[in-house]
Amino acid sequence: MSSSSEEELIHMFKGIPFTTRSSLELLKSLDAFDAREDDVLLVSYPKSGTHWLAGVIKNLYSAQVTLTSPIEFGDVSKLEELNQVSSKRVIPTHLDYNMLPPNFKNKKCKMIYISRNPKDTAVSMYHYYRDNPNLPTIDTWTAFFDLFLKGDVVCGSWFDHFLSWEEHANDKNILFLFYEDMQKDLPKIVKEISLFLGLNVSENDIQDICKKSSFSEMKSDTEKENSDPSHTVCALTSNRKLIFRKGAVGDWKNHFTPKQNRRFEEMFNEKMKLSKM
Ligand code: A3P
Repeated sequence: MSSSSEEELIHMFKGIPFTTRSSLELLKSLDAFDAREDDVLLVSYPKSGTHWLAGVIKNLYSAQVTLTSPIEFGDVSKLEELNQVSSKRVIPTHLDYNMLPPNFKNKKCKMIYISRNPKDTAVSMYHYYRDNPNLPTIDTWTAFFDLFLKGDVVCGSWFDHFLSWEEHANDKNILFLFYEDMQKDLPKIVKEISLFLGLNVSENDIQDICKKSSFSEMKSDTEKENSDPSHTVCALTSNRKLIFRKGAVGDWKNHFTPKQNRRFEEMFNEKMKLSKM
């Protein structure tokens, strides 16, 4: 990575780059986290549609849940802070499956994993890096593209993250979703999520939730709420304008050169050999 202040912003834990906003003490203590059976985990590699899915889930539950910040973000007091939440918790995380606190697995907590075409994820992440002072400086798309392929970005390799979760895609307590499917038919995915969560929602509710979760609605809500940092799922900025950028499928075509596309495809085919995707 190219920033001189990178060391202040990024540190490694178990071979994965984390921002220093996830303290080492917290990362080390995650294994001891006390999950509750009714916790719902919202899992993603960054820039895959986490906020969108969080918006849908919050609307599905209306006011009965607390959407926390990501479990791996903060200092060691985070665990106690989450303990103090008295309502049902919806907890986002970018951790890969192997790093997830074992208690979530033992208690078979419901987990929703959202994924996205990694080419679009890379482009989204590039813009996020570029505009976010809490991440290392990136000079060019070309430089970022190389870092992304190497997994030398926050949360590590997209491929490793996806594969670690895909292995568990058929577990009964895990629902696997794709950003592109949400774009194609949001009502269908909202229904799927509500069934998975055991929630009884009417057709009208579903229509209403889809309306409230549209890109334009969420973006304009953000502009109203922008001064309130507690309204963000994202651990790395209180500026929600950075989150709602374009909200489109296929923006990678505006960034990838034909050569980069070939390199990406080669890497994808190699890494994803055993994937069903
Ligand atoms: P782009 O940068 O491609 O626009 P995350 O929430 O995981 O950080 O992901 C952010 C990406 O999801 C951004 O992608 C953002 O625009 C997109 N996004 C957020 N809300 C959305 C919505 N309601 N509909 C479609 N895309 C959305």
